[in-house]
Amino acid sequence: MKDIDTTKMSADDWDELNFPRPEVQEFDRVVERAISRRGFLGGVLAFGSGAAVMGAGMLKGTTAMAQPVSRFPFAPIAAQIDNTIHVPEGYSWDVLVRWGDPLFSDAEGAWDPQAGVSVDMSERVFGENTDGMELFNVDGREILVVNSEYTNRDVNLPHTDGGTPGSLDDVRILQHLQGVTVMEVAEDESGWSVVIDSPYNRRIHHNSPMTFDGPAAGHPLLQTEADPTGMASLGTMNNCGSGRTPWGTYLTCEENFNGYFGATGDIPADETVAAGYRRYGIGADGWGYDYHLWDARFDTSANPNEPHRVGYVVEIDPANPDATPVKHTALGRFKHENAAYAIAADGRVVVYMGDDERGEFMYRWVSRDAYVPGEDTSTLLSEGELSVAVFDDDMTGRWVPLTPATTGMDVAHIAVFTRTAASAVGATTMDRPEWIAVHPNASEAYCCLTNNSRRGLLNDDGTVRTNAGGDPMSVNAVNPRDTNRFGQIVRWRPVGGDHGAEGFSWDLYVMAGNPEVHADGPYAGTANINAGNLFNSPDGMQIDSTGLIWIQTDGDDSNEGDFAGMGNNQMLAGDPVTGRIERFLTGPNGCEVTGLTWSSDRRTMFVGIQHPDAPFPDGEGSLPRSAIVTVRRDDNGLVG
Ligand code: FEO
Ligand code: CA
Ligand code: CA
Repeated sequence: MKDIDTTKMSADDWDELNFPRPEVQEFDRVVERAISRRGFLGGVLAFGSGAAVMGAGMLKGTTAMAQPVSRFPFAPIAAQIDNTIHVPEGYSWDVLVRWGDPLFSDAEGAWDPQAGVSVDMSERVFGENTDGMELFNVDGREILVVNSEYTNRDVNLPHTDGGTPGSLDDVRILQHLQGVTVMEVAEDESGWSVVIDSPYNRRIHHNSPMTFDGPAAGHPLLQTEADPTGMASLGTMNNCGSGRTPWGTYLTCEENFNGYFGATGDIPADETVAAGYRRYGIGADGWGYDYHLWDARFDTSANPNEPHRVGYVVEIDPANPDATPVKHTALGRFKHENAAYAIAADGRVVVYMGDDERGEFMYRWVSRDAYVPGEDTSTLLSEGELSVAVFDDDMTGRWVPLTPATTGMDVAHIAVFTRTAASAVGATTMDRPEWIAVHPNASEAYCCLTNNSRRGLLNDDGTVRTNAGGDPMSVNAVNPRDTNRFGQIVRWRPVGGDHGAEGFSWDLYVMAGNPEVHADGPYAGTANINAGNLFNSPDGMQIDSTGLIWIQTDGDDSNEGDFAGMGNNQMLAGDPVTGRIERFLTGPNGCEVTGLTWSSDRRTMFVGIQHPDAPFPDGEGSLPRSAIVTVRRDDNGLVG
């Protein structure tokens, strides 16, 4: 515990502290299936057989079949270790909005460089810890919707002892600064800014009304004393990655929701509920938010079902400020990273999703009904089938449906205890699935597997370590490194080019590594890693309209040891055809670069800078501020 700054600890580290498992590393372990550096050429060669398998009937080509073209419209930049942002020559960046900036005129001047914001103004300003975001053009107006994932309590409550709430008002400040911001943005000669008092501006936070749909809506597991209907939730929490639907709505993904709950008394005796608490890491102490000491809704001894009401994908209509967000229980309850849609060959809606915890799984939703533009979309995220991924070592895989027949659970329990259902069908334990991105012009998708320091480790009794459900985290072909510090990106191509198909073939687009420190072997990384593009822990990801893969990192920025030469967290661009990867942007010290979207004219890129160290971006004497920055070409050219 010593020397750990718990206010900036990662979610997995929190879970490790709260639910410790024995740790013994097998130093001599032979990684039988670790893939040699020579075995990859950006995955393209390795994928040749998979492309052949798909054959006729393919809806779109694959990138392996496309014509190589020069894909990088910028000169790559070097790694950096300073406290600002760098972009390539010919590009410029600017701050659009920082936490505490006003959305409404009554909040102008609400933010103080040393004190932050008051409770009264905390839901009138842009939230903290920006994460996933999407832009929507509504009647010609640019509406940016942005997640605020969690809080840096010491920064948000600078008047307290290390960020520990000392009152209900302190808790309310934290609750209000997280969630989602909907805001209109506009560009003039001086750049982009928030349109203060736009009718679209809206804050959705931990106390905002929501409804449920899908198989768990109204179920006793979701009922509480305050909501005996089990239909009306308050708040969306730990909003990590994002997604969008083809019908113009925003998807916000609830990730590390477990950390907000604690108990002042006994926790539930019901074995189903208690087992769920263990699987999802819901403990008596929480992660330091201390909501449960001031707001009984978060006290599981008083409200044991409240944690069942978070952990979902939530749909928000950015065009209608009065619309109540909907929590879609059919898409499962887990630590949702993001939600990336595709359209199946028959028009059904596909949503790919990852569960970001060590050894958890990747999921796919397929709607029952087809999407028809302009027609009713209300069933598309509530009626259909949820599946989980199995990756086989022969570089094929399949989506296994989670149904009463396959899991032995009823549909409501599958929706609420989705991890348990996925364990029952033998899903593949993954190295922390972060963002998934679907290629817009080719039948393939990608998932960042950010790292997994416990992969392949052994317990005291010699058994391999497991996830919280007891599923072994043995080394396998898609997670080929034990003690995986660097991460990898898996790519899959559905059979027949149809995202609704059961089967797929897969390869690794990149295995991050450090060939400067490790001359060979799995820690060197794949052949598309070189001294000029070193990075670790791929996390955020989007694929632009030209097919370039934008990769954002949330990793070790010590720039030492295994991480030497990697510098601060960053954003790189990858070419899916050649496998080449080049560095485009570096963030300030301490930050994670996460969240990326584009203006409708594709001349501006919006990039999220989460939890930078002081004094970014305001200079000495100011609290550090998460921010969204714009990046444009100086010649006003396209940026994606
Ligand atoms: Fe919120 Fe897994 O990142
Ligand atoms: Ca993330
Ligand atoms: Ca991460």
